[in-house]
Amino acid sequence: MTAFSAGSERASGQAWRELAPNYERARAREDSLDRRVEWPAQRDVIGDVTGLSVLDLGCGNGAKVAELVDDGAAAGVGVDISGNFIEPRPGTELVQGDLSDLGRLPGLEDRRFDRVPFLQSFGYAKDPVHALRSARSMLTEDGFIVLTGTQPIRYARERAEKNGTTLGEEYFTQGTYTYATGWNQNIALTKNTYTMSDLLNTFSAAGLWIDRALEPHLLEETARRYRTSRSG
Ligand SMILES: C[S@@+](CC[C@H](N)C(=O)[O-])C[C@H]1O[C@@H](n2cnc3c(N)ncnc32)[C@H](O)[C@@H]1O
Repeated sequence: MTAFSAGSERASGQAWRELAPNYERARAREDSLDRRVEWPAQRDVIGDVTGLSVLDLGCGNGAKVAELVDDGAAAGVGVDISGNFIEPRPGTELVQGDLSDLGRLPGLEDRRFDRVPFLQSFGYAKDPVHALRSARSMLTEDGFIVLTGTQPIRYARERAEKNGTTLGEEYFTQGTYTYATGWNQNIALTKNTYTMSDLLNTFSAAGLWIDRALEPHLLEETARRYRTSRSG
């Protein structure tokens, strides 16, 4: 197994350059969690984008921001460290770069955005408060950030099963967690553990407040229909 640390910029970038094709293949599956649960919930929160500008941070191959442009967004910029992008369509710009360092992304210094999604990518920010403050500084007056991430109980449950401990113990354990990704078992990612209050305090520290929170999950009927729930 190759272990890459998400805490190290270069190692995480390298991991994602290798993982990107596996991730996108898994995500494109008809029964992927992204298609069945995550993207519909994310799309709902992003809302009507007609005439708006969108900055998708950690955009993967850029297909989601391209879809927002198809849905009427006036401009869509996607930033991802992997550089594994679809062919950009008119109105969509895809930039290889680090979401931890938005100030250094070429051509974005003076731009403002109405929607700034971090979709399953915020966990890779080197300094989460700094990343949120930078994103906040790029918002229009009525703009907002949409942040989605893995419910920390999922990782706590995995660690409890692996370590023979309890969910409660693992939920409150501080430190890092290294796991083989479901997209390529030969590549491991390391993440900082966090609780829901850690996450909420990160928003407060960045001067943000929460307007709406959702906990989407796989419905019984969907799980039965697709038999398995797959990550991606
Ligand atoms: C779980 S995927 C989510 C992709 C996409 N947002 C989606 O919802 O399908 C995480 C993404 O974050 C990107 N990523 C990881 N670290 C990053 C960094 N430091 N800067 C920019 N993108 C990063 C990865 O390359 C990957 O595309």
